[in-house]
Amino acid sequence: MGRMTEAFSPKNIIVTGGCGFIGSNFVHYVYNNHPDVHITVLDALTYAGNLENIKAILGDRVEFVHGNICDAELLDRLVPGHDAIVHYAAESHNDNSIANPEPFLKTNVEGTFRLLEAARKYDVRYHHVSTDEVYGDLALDDPAKFTEETPYHPSSPYSSTKASSDLLVRAWHRTFGVRMTISNCSNNYGPYQHVEKFIPRQITNILDGLRPKLYGDGRNVRDWIHTEDHSSAVWTILTKGRIGETYLIGANGECNNITVLRDILEVMGKDRDDFDWVKDRPGHDRRYAIDSTKLQTELGWKPTHTDFQKGLEKTIAWYTENRAWWEPAKAATEAKYKQQGQ
Ligand code: NAD
Ligand code: DAU
Repeated sequence: MGRMTEAFSPKNIIVTGGCGFIGSNFVHYVYNNHPDVHITVLDALTYAGNLENIKAILGDRVEFVHGNICDAELLDRLVPGHDAIVHYAAESHNDNSIANPEPFLKTNVEGTFRLLEAARKYDVRYHHVSTDEVYGDLALDDPAKFTEETPYHPSSPYSSTKASSDLLVRAWHRTFGVRMTISNCSNNYGPYQHVEKFIPRQITNILDGLRPKLYGDGRNVRDWIHTEDHSSAVWTILTKGRIGETYLIGANGECNNITVLRDILEVMGKDRDDFDWVKDRPGHDRRYAIDSTKLQTELGWKPTHTDFQKGLEKTIAWYTENRAWWEPAKAATEAKYKQQGQ
């Protein structure tokens, strides 16, 4: 197996889910760093999608198409003429997948199948954005981290549908020759993340005078990466990655939930115990940890936002200054959590 990387210079890409948290960050990243690339954003604008996220850059170089990735006829009209699909669209929240798994099967499994069929039919390069959760979890005292060789062992309806979609991508490569790459990334944080997720939920609770909510014993570990580092990694893999390969993306950001929460409380001027312990998530993964050696040594990628504390402070400032962005989603999100006892 050679170490040679392939150079690919896409000029006209489709980004699915480009109005969500990470997809919209990627659209901004490409817009800012690669002025010769035209981007077509395909997004169904579910509860998690918000056109505001890319409104400022819509125009000649960024076009928005409102539609569903499960719509094969739409893909037949849209995909020809593009040279790559970067697939972010998904149902992305574990707690929602426990309350109602069905949309996860539809979007994450059937949606990926439809995109793969289109990539195959029109011979378009395909990059699949996936998660470290496909590998299951690690014990707190395990020195190991996930690598590209770790066996799949997903725990939740969300992660099992993401694992299923990864397997479809591999099969479409081996059987039909679809030119694909896969990336599995750890927990992202940064601006524009939906208020259902851990960090934005706690920040906006404090801003709204509500108490933050911690699941279980609070010792679960997540491996945090700034979403802009995820974007630069996906661009690197799309343009330099070897066809058929999987790359893990992470930035050595392991931290347990109670530490993250106490940091947020401290930065926001609250007492470190000013939060509620709530019911644990069923099947709650204990720890994630990424070894990104392959991506760093083979493709030369490096994270730049390596100071998690500073990144957290900037994220708190963003939610404090952008109440109009998150407020419309807050009440419904908290009502859903209340029903679940969380
Ligand atoms: P998100 O929930 O914020 O955004 C998802 C976007 O997809 C929304 O804009 C939504 O409208 C769109 N969408 C959903 N269903 C669709 C459909 N059927 N057709 C078209 N568009 C649809 O999600 P996110 O947190 O930005 O995650 C993006 C991707 O990155 C997902 O594939 C997720 O599995 C993966 N990922 C997320 C993380 C993380 O920490 N959030 C980490 C690793 C990988
Ligand atoms: O690892 C990558 C994954 O990270 C992505 O694939 C998912 O799309 C993304 O949602 C994220 O999944 P998690 O389940 O790890 O993220 P979440 O923000 O939901 O929760 C982070 C941790 O915080 C987890 O251990 C559960 C805990 N938690 C969460 C919420 C919402 C709390 O303790 N309290 C809360 O209120």
